[in-house]
Amino acid sequence: MAPDLRTRLGNVELPNPILTASGCASSGRELAQFVDVSKIGAIVTKSVMLAPRAGRPTPRMAETSSGMLNSIGLQGPGIDAFLQRDLPWLLSRGARAVVSIAGSTVDEYAELAARLSDAAGVTALEVNISCPNVEHRGQVFACDPVDAGAVIEAVRARTRYDVPVFAKLSPDVTDIVAIARACVAAGADGLSMINTLLGMVIDTDAVRPALAGMTGGLSGPAIRPVAVRCIWQVKQALPDVPIIGMGGVMTGRDALELMLAGASMVSVGTAVFHDPSACARILRELDDELARRGVERLSEVIGLAQEMRAAGRSMGAVK
Ligand SMILES: Cc1cc2nc3c(=O)[nH]c(=O)nc-3n(C[C@H](O)[C@H](O)[C@H](O)COP(=O)(O)O)c2cc1C
Repeated sequence: MAPDLRTRLGNVELPNPILTASGCASSGRELAQFVDVSKIGAIVTKSVMLAPRAGRPTPRMAETSSGMLNSIGLQGPGIDAFLQRDLPWLLSRGARAVVSIAGSTVDEYAELAARLSDAAGVTALEVNISCPNVEHRGQVFACDPVDAGAVIEAVRARTRYDVPVFAKLSPDVTDIVAIARACVAAGADGLSMINTLLGMVIDTDAVRPALAGMTGGLSGPAIRPVAVRCIWQVKQALPDVPIIGMGGVMTGRDALELMLAGASMVSVGTAVFHDPSACARILRELDDELARRGVERLSEVIGLAQEMRAAGRSMGAVK
């Protein structure tokens, strides 16, 4: 029998745990020619801001060993266009829409939450707090427990009670558990991790930074061990809080790794750039990985590596 892949996004049930990662599939439209967007657990949109934004100057992508660096910035059409055009399209295709929001002040996040709460059909909000706080000398919200908590508290207060709010955490902190605790105390129903790591590439021929914006976010397989570590630490500290894991997932086995650490769902980002059907493929591969291990329900493997370690046990190789 095929394993039961249903999973819970807060109080919402998803048919399977494979999601797109914010910023890597826009609002899902570009993927539709490669995958049936209604068959993916959910589409997580590019972070939406209040006003339209052009993003950062080019070049803003650079390849690195086992990953890529991007400095796209929060380019997008703004909330009005999103509500008029993108959300209705996702709903018309039967997709579940997890809307990522981003702002420069606590009030901007709160207003976005209120606008999206008024719109029907939003499955959940993912709050991208890896943005500079203009009211706090540009300090990134996700790097400060008080600022991170303030955003989540404001968003939770303005979001309809039945729409789960997930806080998306940055790995660029000394203690990710402290930020996770602050977000949960402020009302987050779940946590998404990890966002990209801040990096830099220098073009050794041109002898200048490869990105016009100098620094950018590192993603792809290079960051998967960091994602596994963050998920492990947060799951250990907050075992009942659902986690959307992401970071370098290229195969079903990679998705399983994040789930064994404690993720209940997995978002796929960088993999989509060279394989637009990656979400559907990874879902098939995950199904196969679970079937070969005789797993009947996905819930059996979430955080299993933590339980096995606590019990001092391990399993044999899987053929
Ligand atoms: C080109 C690009 C754009 C991204 N844009 C966003 C974004 O708008 N909001 C956000 O929360 N994360 C954004 N991310 C981060 C991803 O959602 C994800 O957290 C990260 O890339 C790690 O997953 P991956 O290794 O599978 O790509 C972006 C990543 C990439 C590569």
